[in-house]
Amino acid sequence: MSTRTVIRGGLVVTAADELHADVLIEDGRVVALAAHGSDAAAAWTADRTVDATDRYVLPGGVDAHTHMELPFGGTAASDTFETGTRAAAWGGTTTIVDFAVQTVGRSLREGLDTWYAKADGNCAIDYAFHMILSDVDEHSLKEMDRLVQEGITSFKLFMAYPGVFYSDDGKILRAMQRSADNGGLIMMHAENGIAIDVLVEQALARGETDPRYHGEVRKALLEAEATHRAIQLARVAGAPLYVVHVSAEEAVAEIATARDKGLPVFGETCPQYLFLSTDNLAEPGFEGAKYVCSTPLRPKEHQAALWRGLRTNDLQVVSTDHCPFCFTGQKDLGLGDFSKIPNGLPGVENRMDLLHQAVVDGHISRRRWIEIACASPARMFGLYPQKGTIAPGADADIVIYDPHAVQTLSADTHHMNVDYSAYEGKRVTGQVETVLSRGELVIDQRKYVGRAGHGTFTPRSTSQYLN
Ligand code: URP
Ligand code: ZN
Ligand code: ZN
Repeated sequence: MSTRTVIRGGLVVTAADELHADVLIEDGRVVALAAHGSDAAAAWTADRTVDATDRYVLPGGVDAHTHMELPFGGTAASDTFETGTRAAAWGGTTTIVDFAVQTVGRSLREGLDTWYAKADGNCAIDYAFHMILSDVDEHSLKEMDRLVQEGITSFKLFMAYPGVFYSDDGKILRAMQRSADNGGLIMMHAENGIAIDVLVEQALARGETDPRYHGEVRKALLEAEATHRAIQLARVAGAPLYVVHVSAEEAVAEIATARDKGLPVFGETCPQYLFLSTDNLAEPGFEGAKYVCSTPLRPKEHQAALWRGLRTNDLQVVSTDHCPFCFTGQKDLGLGDFSKIPNGLPGVENRMDLLHQAVVDGHISRRRWIEIACASPARMFGLYPQKGTIAPGADADIVIYDPHAVQTLSADTHHMNVDYSAYEGKRVTGQVETVLSRGELVIDQRKYVGRAGHGTFTPRSTSQYLN
């Protein structure tokens, strides 16, 4: 049965426009926008009317970097697809792109099928997958072509984590050459993991075991060096490159230099690098473990370069790298040895609000907020304009956002399945009020009314950011 919804009275904000317009939704898609009070809008009849007076009407957020249920560091990320996608919806994100993992010695197919099974029937919002390549060989290179056809059009490689996900330069080059042919986008974890492991060993031998040493051994220069090397390898291969979780000013400079040469090099940063710093890693006791992730948090001085990169479009996307581990029972695996703290931070619920705070603070404009959080990730990963905008034909993934509400971020009130908040006590202005996914209410006036299984797998085209 056809369902018609009209959203009335709000300010529609997309990456391109700000419009005082009503939005008509039919059968899960946006059908039309029309000015408030116009004859066209007045003529619309609806089964459901959503009042958005004094509210923003936003495209649902697209979080292009999550790790639900990721087995990592001797444990597994604490959000399942069910809890993690529900929390995402609470925070105004209506699509995630999660990372399926190839186990060393196994096929991409097997890893991907495992991730399909984890997500199937459990998600509150739509989802897609990237593929982590842990074992580049003739077979997995051929499989890349098939995955691109199946809508898995991006592949993450690691210059870090020797013995786990690490690929050497030869493997990276081969994967890049393949992606140059099949249209896939290589995503790079750019840190010199071989050098970092030496520094880890030396730090531990000196008795430097606290979480803050995680930030000291994973040096900004080793992020910059790896970023530079990845860019040169991509140039040699003739492939585009997307550098994930950029945190160091020196790495932003490498990306900016490449882009100034006209190379198809892109960068993502994450809210933790914009709002947190090595001061958090140095919190007393073992508290710093809550902030252990890789690339690591940097000294505060790096944040200005990240904000600048977002303004100048040297960085195009803000994703969360949501990879939560509970403080009790998971992060404490690294008591007495920082290298055993599982790497990752929670944040899928906080991204849209933190970036709105950046609008309030004057770092970015309102439309740039929507560009880096919705439109660009959708374009970068082949989901646009189905996702990431509000336009006729787009999925009706829409957030009604109260820009004046003030909230305090806290583990007491968040919905992520993790026992701490990386932003505990932070006051932000702005809050999600109502969320629709393909025209269905998921959050209604701050009540969860969604269901596990509403979210479906969304195959992606190749990157549209290159066109
Ligand atoms: O610390 C992090 N980032 N954990 C998740 C895995 C990765 O490298 O993205
Ligand atoms: Zn990574
Ligand atoms: Zn990640």
